[in-house]
Amino acid sequence: MCGIAGYIGDRDSADVLVDALSKLEYRGYDSAGIAVFENGTIKVEKCKGRLANLVEKMDSDGKPTGHCGIGHTRWATHGEPSDINSHPHGNKRVTIVHNGIIENYKQLKDFLISEGYSFVSETDTETVAKLLDYYYNGDPMATISKVLSEIKGSYALGIMFRDFPDRIFAVRKDSPLIVGVGDSENFIASDVPAIIHYTRDYYLLEENEIAVVKKDAVRIFDVHGNEIFKKINTADWDVDAAEKGGFEHFMLKEIHEQPTAVKTTITPRITEHMPDFSAEGFDANKLKSYRNIFIIACGTAMHAGMVGKYVIEKIARIPVTVDIASEFRYRNPLIGEGDLMIVISQSGETADTKAALGLAKEAGADTMAIVNVKGSSIAREADMVVYTHAGPEISVASTKAYMVQVSIMYLLAFELAYANGKFTEETCREYTEKLEEMPDIIDEAILLKEKCQFAASKLVNADSLLYIGRGLDYALSMEGSLKLKEISYIHSESYAAGELKHGTISLITDGMPVIAIATQKDLVEKTISNIKEVKARGAFVILVADREVEVEEGVADIVIRLPEADQMLMPMVAAVPLQLIAYYTAVLKGNDVDKPRNLAKSVTVE
Ligand code: M6R
Repeated sequence: MCGIAGYIGDRDSADVLVDALSKLEYRGYDSAGIAVFENGTIKVEKCKGRLANLVEKMDSDGKPTGHCGIGHTRWATHGEPSDINSHPHGNKRVTIVHNGIIENYKQLKDFLISEGYSFVSETDTETVAKLLDYYYNGDPMATISKVLSEIKGSYALGIMFRDFPDRIFAVRKDSPLIVGVGDSENFIASDVPAIIHYTRDYYLLEENEIAVVKKDAVRIFDVHGNEIFKKINTADWDVDAAEKGGFEHFMLKEIHEQPTAVKTTITPRITEHMPDFSAEGFDANKLKSYRNIFIIACGTAMHAGMVGKYVIEKIARIPVTVDIASEFRYRNPLIGEGDLMIVISQSGETADTKAALGLAKEAGADTMAIVNVKGSSIAREADMVVYTHAGPEISVASTKAYMVQVSIMYLLAFELAYANGKFTEETCREYTEKLEEMPDIIDEAILLKEKCQFAASKLVNADSLLYIGRGLDYALSMEGSLKLKEISYIHSESYAAGELKHGTISLITDGMPVIAIATQKDLVEKTISNIKEVKARGAFVILVADREVEVEEGVADIVIRLPEADQMLMPMVAAVPLQLIAYYTAVLKGNDVDKPRNLAKSVTVE
């Protein structure tokens, strides 16, 4: 939530900041702003809405000119999206950008008001800016340390002091921040895509480390002023990965990237067609010995966990509980020594998932993170890490991250089933080979585009719809439904098909769309019966089915036949038309597909 950037070097800093923020807009787009040192003063330009509005404003007002500045793209938490609440905040002496939430801002604000300060915005951030000003004694490091000792909550901060026009200060706690290291130019950013056009080298800031970023030097200190010497990381992402590459939207591009993402993710974990997590240092005997497995995540990542639960329980016979991180962390969960918690997160920064991980560690459970962003907080905190290799996912609606998370769920399930003696080596090899075939099958599923576009044309005027399925199809229907609602803004629910007649079927009226998924042979007849029940009550049925499922005339209005694959792996195939249906529905509605309203990619607040 919120993206921050900073630049110091020979280039025009407003241009660099706008470019960097354009790569961070996925983190929030309620407002945008920059602050630049111009002739010894800090000049701020900011406004409500997308970055494009800021660019337009600067085209007419004139952009600040200088070679050092900070920038922000906002996902509003405290205070509505407005010009006044936009970042940067501060005064002529100190100006900041902030990602996170200051929990004790009210007390601090009251204190500052009693000291004669006045506030113009409703944000928590302005309190930090004014507190920096209050404690400023000519020594920025001492001032920042003092302020850090008083603020509670999460923050990544970019700070400029008027008296120090040759440097930017940066600090973080519970919100991501990197320092990009270039050739006579340096950067700060919430994420790698913001700087990858300029440099691949960066430092990952740890909690409460303070970076002093100058044109020719980056120095990092702890809060006591001791210098810290850190290792430079090098981003291995393709520069083009953060561009649309000819596609109309990132979401469509990322759907097309799924075969490669899956291949890149599973290949390093397969040796001679057997799962092999030795590079991650996993001990199969230890893995199979866990009493319970908890899979904890949010949103799409949680849905990938649902697929994991069905598969691990089915083939490895180990009990798996899947829970939403924000629920798990507050329900005093029964987790402890002998249990394994697997957290799944694309960003590795999701606040609730991170808190659940901390809770499991405190309770004595072992923890494993399945994460896409290298060096992210969750990856650093977990005992074991499996990196998915999806590359940057820019579209807020997750597609390729889901697919790679599911692919790791399968590999882990195979490893566990084999270690547990539930799979023979032959069966394990057979399934692993089938997983290795998935990139080609996903490619075939992408060819269903036109059919999905047609299905989307039937949904575009709907007010509400249902997704139904049984077993793995139910697990997948949750993701299908989320994808549709988040980008098309059409209300939808996913339902276990057998549960409909216990209440929800009363919602069915003439023409109401129902998207049914039927890929699990042993359950297909039962799903078809449930489809007939909704059809008889007037539903418009779109059936996504295995190619062998027999569908009598009149049962479904549109049938989307999937390419052939083993039924256990079918969620990886059927996910594709569900993503495409959601995508085309949103496009037909004229929505901003990559930046759906009210959402942000990385949810670093609870
Ligand atoms: O970064 P994470 O995977 O932890 O994010 C969790 C959810 O916010 C995320 O999966 C969200 O539901 C998707 N972007 C929706 O498409």
